[in-house]
Amino acid sequence: MALIVRRGDLPNTPHTEFYAIPGVLALEEIHGSYGFDGPWSRKMHVRHYPTEQSSRPTVADFHFRPTFVDASAVALEPYMIHSGDIPYGGDALRSRFALCGGHSTLMSVIKATESFPADTYFRNAASHELFFVQEGSGVLSSEFGELPFKQHDYIVVPKATTYRIDLHEGSVWLLLIESKFPYEWPPHYMNRGGQAHMTAPVVETEIGLPELRPFRDEVGEFTVFIKAPGGTVTDSKQSHHPFDVSGWEGALYPFTFPILNHHGIAREIHTAPPMHNTFQSGHIPNTGFSVCSFVPQMEGWHPKEVCAPYAHMNVDSDEFMFFCNGSYGARKGIIKDGSISLHQGGVPHSPHGKAAERSLANRGKVAERLAVMLDTYFEPLTITVPALEFCDPEYSTSWSRAAQTQ
Ligand SMILES: [Fe+2]
Repeated sequence: MALIVRRGDLPNTPHTEFYAIPGVLALEEIHGSYGFDGPWSRKMHVRHYPTEQSSRPTVADFHFRPTFVDASAVALEPYMIHSGDIPYGGDALRSRFALCGGHSTLMSVIKATESFPADTYFRNAASHELFFVQEGSGVLSSEFGELPFKQHDYIVVPKATTYRIDLHEGSVWLLLIESKFPYEWPPHYMNRGGQAHMTAPVVETEIGLPELRPFRDEVGEFTVFIKAPGGTVTDSKQSHHPFDVSGWEGALYPFTFPILNHHGIAREIHTAPPMHNTFQSGHIPNTGFSVCSFVPQMEGWHPKEVCAPYAHMNVDSDEFMFFCNGSYGARKGIIKDGSISLHQGGVPHSPHGKAAERSLANRGKVAERLAVMLDTYFEPLTITVPALEFCDPEYSTSWSRAAQTQ
């Protein structure tokens, strides 16, 4: 991210002598991306390198290897997954339910009723993570500090951050989008000084940052579960507390961003999805994806404006859309809280029934809606076998039915 942040105590000059504990040389770690070329942070460990393991790592007794349908053997059809029907249960670490994915991304939901187990941590060595909080609140604690989160926050967690999640309430419902590539503000939103343009829908300083707590200079046995590319999980035992950092500085760190801090930009006629772009990941437009926030905003006010979107397809993108609630005019009667549409590139989709006619009455009014959309670039998304159980089997013919009944 463009905003360089400093927390706690560390030397001004990188890789120079520093003591957080008198007489004990602190040990520096670089957490980088894109080799040593992308956003990075440096951390000062007060006594131990993060490399110290008390025993040889083992394969954990659980994994995150998704089971996809065989895309070469099924029809190309749109899906509507009702993630609200997926039952709650388990802890926030193990309850990842994979929905669909491609070669660089994986989408899941977490509907957990418990925090991570005590003294247990997770590190995703395969992907950067973007959570969206559909329900619940809690704290994501990492070596960067404690990061509180609440309903309708995005939470960005860089690849290989060591963290745990503790819930405030009885349960949490999270959407999780994993990516091989770092998350960033769309570069065209940024000016030559690295700030967001004053005309951009995001303000990069409106993020929630981790609060660094006093370092934990503790020995013991701390379990870090590490996810590798492919989904196998390693059980690593660390002999000292992973939050033994006296200070850190850099541009790669976890943060929150409330979706309603996406300040929608309207125009006289319908505004296309790039105006809703909040984050992107990968080398757009060749790899990766864009993440868009559909927040309440004014519809077009042209005297002949048709507020409902056009039928559309983007031949180079698969579209994944998470509807936070059922208040999405073009999809009325089809979706409910937490429904997810999955539309493949080259297959058009559109509003249902008479939604376009109904939308004429909405000119210049604020549309109440809340949704998170992801558009891939040259990356087909395949649904998982477990997700099929929560799909509407009639979705592909729903436009025909709506045309006859609405
Ligand atoms: Fe769409």
